[in-house]
Amino acid sequence: HPHVASKRVSIVHNGIIENYRSIRHRLEALGHRFSSDTDSEVLAHLFVEAFDAGMDPSAATQSVLAEIDGAYAFAVMSTDYPDMLIVARNASPLALGIGDDACYIGSDATALSHLTRKVVYLKDNDYALVRATGVAVYQADGEPVNREHVIVAASQGLVDKGGYRHYMEKEIHEQPDAIAHSLAAMTDKNGCLTARMSEKKLREVEGIVLLAAGTSHYATQIARYWIESLANVPVVCEVASEYRYRQPATASYNLAIAVSQSGESLDTLMAMRHAADCGMSTIGLVNVPNSTIAREANTVLPTRAGPEIGVASTKSFTAQLTVLLCFAVALARVKGQIDVARANAIHVEIQGLPGLVGRALCLFDEMRPVAHKLSSAKSALYLGRGALYPLALEGALKLKELSYIHAEGFASGEMKHGPIALIEDDIPVVALLAADSVMTKASNNLREANARGGKIILISDSDAAVEVDYASAVITVPNVSSLLSPILLAVPAQILAYLTAVEKGTDVDQPRNLAKSVTVE
Ligand code: AGP
Repeated sequence: HPHVASKRVSIVHNGIIENYRSIRHRLEALGHRFSSDTDSEVLAHLFVEAFDAGMDPSAATQSVLAEIDGAYAFAVMSTDYPDMLIVARNASPLALGIGDDACYIGSDATALSHLTRKVVYLKDNDYALVRATGVAVYQADGEPVNREHVIVAASQGLVDKGGYRHYMEKEIHEQPDAIAHSLAAMTDKNGCLTARMSEKKLREVEGIVLLAAGTSHYATQIARYWIESLANVPVVCEVASEYRYRQPATASYNLAIAVSQSGESLDTLMAMRHAADCGMSTIGLVNVPNSTIAREANTVLPTRAGPEIGVASTKSFTAQLTVLLCFAVALARVKGQIDVARANAIHVEIQGLPGLVGRALCLFDEMRPVAHKLSSAKSALYLGRGALYPLALEGALKLKELSYIHAEGFASGEMKHGPIALIEDDIPVVALLAADSVMTKASNNLREANARGGKIILISDSDAAVEVDYASAVITVPNVSSLLSPILLAVPAQILAYLTAVEKGTDVDQPRNLAKSVTVE
């Protein structure tokens, strides 16, 4: 990027033009010469063609939008109209910033917030002509349309590293605040946990579909343990990219919760739309206010983690878990599955979490030698049981995306059904263990891995650590109830992946091949 055609039109594009091959063949037959193999370049040539045909910017955009299929947010500059940018979106996000004497375009408000807090969000199939003096927004058929001018919160502004070496390190340290603020967002004016929905609506919830991708998906998998055990409401967790394409049977579920830090993951957005089309009511659990998922969901549950810049999700994960646990408690209370005393007791425990997470943050120095050893491994396994199983998946994802070490997470009890064949001398096995109802069974699974040569790196609470006398390294966090252990144990798992990546010298905040928010399928 940019892609330039005929030295007249330059474009930048986020998304995929699905029918670009046929467009390219048509244009090549007309004499257009392409300089790349990308789908994006056809946009530049389509605008040249439209301008050559005498169309003005608005008519040219309508003609281009009528021809392309797919997801896109794009911006166009033409030497014919030097005071103007043309922008359009479908599915991929796009925000226009309105300044005092300039206008701006960006993929979201965060990118613009050092320039202006006044933002216009385009809807799908909108296009806009952007000049320094203002923006004119149109629907795909050329009909002018007014889109609201939104004033975004100052906290959505760009952030610096605050003295830390990496954004990720800073964001790991921001978790006590992220959890406390997210808890505040889930507390009503009477000081009780709330699901931010009417009691009537909550009472009507019969089954919940949790939709998300990546780390957010692992948060939903942990939440399933909480919602089913506390509220006795059936839950399915769906990988968003699979959901709408597999023709799910939806009759038993009437609520869909789309969980997304960015609120812009295209897979999650599309899955939420599919759930809405199937008649479900929708909740968007997002960290970015005014994101597309937030704007489209019937109800918003906010995480208040603040801007997360590092590609690896850290504080947004623990904030999502906090909100999901609060939601589970509020739902369970309304459904009559737990009494006030139990709800209050869990609430008090969550209130103690920021302090406990703060103590877990002191583990950095202690974990450096562990990370040093791990950094020379070719492969690592992560094991957990119960709600710590999804945390094992998340721990493995953190390690592989940051340090490029191959890592797999397994339910400890599944080892004997196949994965134990992977255990060889000295393979690191990161074990997530808490003093809960499955601790003894989980510990036995770990002992088996250790007996076959696995080097156990134990991440556990203090009580569980006492049970394990075979680990090569033991990282402990304070004791906490089993409901909260996935949140607290997430912190050392993040620190381990971070320190290992630093040891390896990888690009911690911007790992190869990854984007912070994935706005294409
Ligand atoms: C993990 O560290 C990644 N950031 C990634 O898996 C992420 O969780 C996923 O792409 C979903 O993003 P979202 O929460 O913004 O929807």
